[in-house]
Amino acid sequence: MSKAFWKEAVVYQIYPRSFMDGNGDGIGDLQGIISRLDYLRDLGIDVVWLGPVYRSPNADNGYDISDYRAIMAEFGTMDDWDLLLEGLHERGIRLVMDLVVNHTSDEHEWFSQSRRSKDNPYRDYYYWRPGKDGAEPNNWASAFGGSAWQYDEQTDEYYLHLFSAKQPDLNWDNPKVRQDIYAMMKWWLDKGVDGFRMDVINFISKAPELPQAPAAEGQRYAWGGQYFMNGPRIHEFLREMNEQALTPGRSIMTIGEMPGVSPEEALLYVGEERKELNMVFQFELMDIDAEGDKWNIRPWKLTEFKRIMDKWQTSLQGKGWNSLYLNNHDQPRMVSRFGNDGRYRVESAKMLATMLHTLQGTPFIYQGEEIGMTNVKFSSIEDYRDVETMNLYRDRVIEGGQDADGVMKSIYAKGRDNARTPMQWDDGGNAGFTCGKPWIGVNPNYREINVKQSLEDPLSILYYYRKLIRLRREHSVLVYGDYRMILDDHEQIYAYMRTLGALRWLVMLNFFESEAEFVLPEEIDYSGKRLVLGNYPADPGADIRRIRLRPYEARVYELE
Ligand code: NOJ
Repeated sequence: MSKAFWKEAVVYQIYPRSFMDGNGDGIGDLQGIISRLDYLRDLGIDVVWLGPVYRSPNADNGYDISDYRAIMAEFGTMDDWDLLLEGLHERGIRLVMDLVVNHTSDEHEWFSQSRRSKDNPYRDYYYWRPGKDGAEPNNWASAFGGSAWQYDEQTDEYYLHLFSAKQPDLNWDNPKVRQDIYAMMKWWLDKGVDGFRMDVINFISKAPELPQAPAAEGQRYAWGGQYFMNGPRIHEFLREMNEQALTPGRSIMTIGEMPGVSPEEALLYVGEERKELNMVFQFELMDIDAEGDKWNIRPWKLTEFKRIMDKWQTSLQGKGWNSLYLNNHDQPRMVSRFGNDGRYRVESAKMLATMLHTLQGTPFIYQGEEIGMTNVKFSSIEDYRDVETMNLYRDRVIEGGQDADGVMKSIYAKGRDNARTPMQWDDGGNAGFTCGKPWIGVNPNYREINVKQSLEDPLSILYYYRKLIRLRREHSVLVYGDYRMILDDHEQIYAYMRTLGALRWLVMLNFFESEAEFVLPEEIDYSGKRLVLGNYPADPGADIRRIRLRPYEARVYELE
């Protein structure tokens, strides 16, 4: 397998609004991040993925960009951004920027022009269509609820927005759009960025006729995903982007966010010979606890979880590269969702982290994960800030008359604000995030869960992350080694081997709070073993042919 820095890297995701406030206005900013750079260096990460910091009216926290070449005033200035890049590079950390080019803000100059008249030179930068029988041009639903079309009086037509009405979709079939985007990307690369995380990049090619989506009886709007996810020209666009904007003669890193992508499709994006992207964020695991839509929660079994992980591990092995994540700014906190955020918070967070750093792929740590931050439960909908959550509440409770408690239950489990509460730095006011009033409430558990406490406790999750990151750097078997699952049908333990040449590593993870018996398959022979890492004190000499794993116990062995 070919070597690359982005395969060896561990990435840390910063959601700028919630990481650190440098000026006391209650909103995280670039100076705030700069003040915490040594924290990131000490953690040992190689790359920062910075959420969008471009000028934006903030309908979707920066995922609605009104100027791609300017910094959002709340976050600071371009000089601050230059200082941030310098500070990261001085510490040997690369910077990956968020690239949001499926849509812009409706306040972007291109859109202001576009909506002006049907013959404006920018008209065709977006999707404009006349209404059909007095209604929207088709029945597509927006990801944030309601129709994906917004009527605009000025020209008596509708424009397409797969996300909020303040996020009109760009028309990538127009070559001028593509050229403008590539020029912007080159501009940032010339400034020194080390790569891009590309927002819903597999949505940029739409089926030209924008067909009606299949809908259930009585359903007014339906998800038209099959007409824009992995659409007809997507590979042509990404290859063109790669040739024209991403090959500036130095190595950069590209990650495509891709809802609804299968491993077979993913290989078309990341196959080593395809010259498109380095890796994708897939969503299959993120959908494991949902039935129909994400808010409708279903219980899952570990064997289902393992089947998904195993499928992605084996399908890409030797052909492409995985990204590994269990949470981000759009997903609930991993310890609350896949672990246990009560009695076994520390053990289960470490167990999940062990998995993320010992599978094949590039691990992505989302801010606060490394100290075991948890989901939040605000008692009132008034305390929520996310457009998706607020639309859900409006559509289902206020307009739809559904039971508020039931909807709040879904929000507690799946709402995006779970991950967006401020980073918990210490046990002082507002968790040390701001000296002002935070834009969203701090999780009340900050008194127990915070960086200061983690630094004082040698057994903290934070120190365990540092160990894992170092381990991965020092042992290429964790990066390049082959992966093979063992104990496939075990309902409680996820276990696998990583092998590279003569090196053989064995990982065992108990996903539950009850003890579980690990029995080593007979075909795995070995003469000796070394306990490399675990999340409990353990007897290094224990017989690994049969081990009782404690609640959420994780162990990594090297076999001889
Ligand atoms: C995915 C981003 O991660 C999410 O936060 C955003 O709302 C949508 N794309 C739209 O840009």
